[in-house]
Amino acid sequence: MSAEKSFYLTTPIYYVNDAPHIGHAYTTVAGDVLTRWHRQRGESVWFLTGTDEHGEKVMNTAASNNVKPQDWCDRLVEEAWKPNWSALNIANDDFIRTTEKRHEERVQRFMTLLKDNGYIYAGKFEGPYCIGCEEFKLPGDLDEGKCKIHGKPVEMLSEDNWFFKLSAFVPQLLEYYKNNPEACEPASARNEVIAFLESGVRDLSISRSTFDWGIPVPWDTDQVVYVWFDALLNYATAVGLGDDPNSEGGKKFAKTWPADVHLVGKDILRFHAVIWPAMLMAANVAIPKKVFAHGWLLVGGEKMSKSKLTGIAPSDITDHFGVDAFRYYFLRSIPFGTDGSFSWEDMVARYTSELANDFGNLASRSIAMIEKYCEGKIPQPAAEPKLAEAAQKACEIADERICALDFQGGILAILDFCKVVNGYVTDQAPWVLAKDTANKVELEKVLYTTVESLRILAVLFHPVMPETSEKLWDALGAKILGPIGDQKISEVATWGQLPAGVQVSRGEVLFPRLPEPESA
Ligand code: ME8
Ligand code: MG
Repeated sequence: MSAEKSFYLTTPIYYVNDAPHIGHAYTTVAGDVLTRWHRQRGESVWFLTGTDEHGEKVMNTAASNNVKPQDWCDRLVEEAWKPNWSALNIANDDFIRTTEKRHEERVQRFMTLLKDNGYIYAGKFEGPYCIGCEEFKLPGDLDEGKCKIHGKPVEMLSEDNWFFKLSAFVPQLLEYYKNNPEACEPASARNEVIAFLESGVRDLSISRSTFDWGIPVPWDTDQVVYVWFDALLNYATAVGLGDDPNSEGGKKFAKTWPADVHLVGKDILRFHAVIWPAMLMAANVAIPKKVFAHGWLLVGGEKMSKSKLTGIAPSDITDHFGVDAFRYYFLRSIPFGTDGSFSWEDMVARYTSELANDFGNLASRSIAMIEKYCEGKIPQPAAEPKLAEAAQKACEIADERICALDFQGGILAILDFCKVVNGYVTDQAPWVLAKDTANKVELEKVLYTTVESLRILAVLFHPVMPETSEKLWDALGAKILGPIGDQKISEVATWGQLPAGVQVSRGEVLFPRLPEPESA
């Protein structure tokens, strides 16, 4: 058994009350890019996503569609969520559904453990509950009786429930976040969590008695586990929480836990940075290394959402721009951690200037020149220290930035290198050199430098734009170096890897001209 711990990254598990929109895709693509990057660093990686299927919200949606909740979930997962992720080229290692037996059993075992440890007691919950948030509210969270987030009336609950002694963990959590700033990022998120912890945290009702779409509380089967308590546990149940250390699940847990990054939107920060670590502390399980809360995609200045019907389907964008441009655009244009708006015009502009011109044209021009001036074969490797140094620097910055979840900074470093290569081609003007056979050595050096730089660009862009990078890899004849996914970030800038004599091929255009927008 390998002792190396996996880099373990999770996305939220999304509610299956509706189909995915680009907000969900934003988180999952970011997770996919980060895990692909870590795989290319040569690390063992585990990437989990999934669906949150219990609770009143999903139950009510199923009922209003005249379908049983389980059938509704099965349909949404199979017909909407899983196909959406495969269409976006998401390479998750596992997909957890909270209605799976592996999850339900481990949740029940965990509940029993917490009760045995003295952290669960019987109490009465009286107050407002927002089904949209699936959250117990305080009167101060409301605006004229409506949830401030969903703008919808709340339910008034009065139930005998089971409570978790959340308040007991406040001092430990405060100390933890003060001493470990990297445990909650960005800084704005950490400050919010600290302020929340300092404002006084109540114990949490962790069961519901007025409906049955959930996991039964093991010692009181008239109640079901509160949907967030159930859902948060997915991150650990999916990798064997509580299993015998010698079993398969136990070994998986040892290799994977604690999670390195829980990637979430800032809407669900408190659940992840307060309730979740407290649950783990109560069970003496290690807490995650980092919760990273990114910003919202906005529509008309408000969070894009299913419940407000402002969700844009990923396919509305990918049908026009392609999957890789979609994966690229949001990470490139919005600093990770900040809110951002989607604009069709901005996406057209970046697609055209950065992807089609700076990257795509560089590739097609260079390969065409190899065909024209070198009989389609990679020339003799030649040194070009200026470019080799720029490549090295781009790799170092991109690696540092992306590992810090600064996707924009990482992509910019790669784009900068792309600009350097374009500038080099313009300066050296190989089409001028080609006019005189006396320049043959010089010409071949320039073209070698260009395609060798493209090799590096293909690898660096691979986590962001896997399909396009692979096309370029094939066009360069670089398959001779092995699959693109096996190329290591730490070695990619080592100059002179493309061997002489390999045949290039002009494949498909990497970023085709955009279709004319349909007139309204
Ligand atoms: O909250 N901008 O599920 P959910 C950016 N089931 N990201 C957005 C977004 C937007 N406008 N809208 C949604 C739940 N997201 C729970 C999670 S986890 C144990 C349980 C993304 O379907 C973002 O990641 O409401 C956000 O946190 C998540 O989808 C909420 O998805
Ligand atoms: Mg939501």
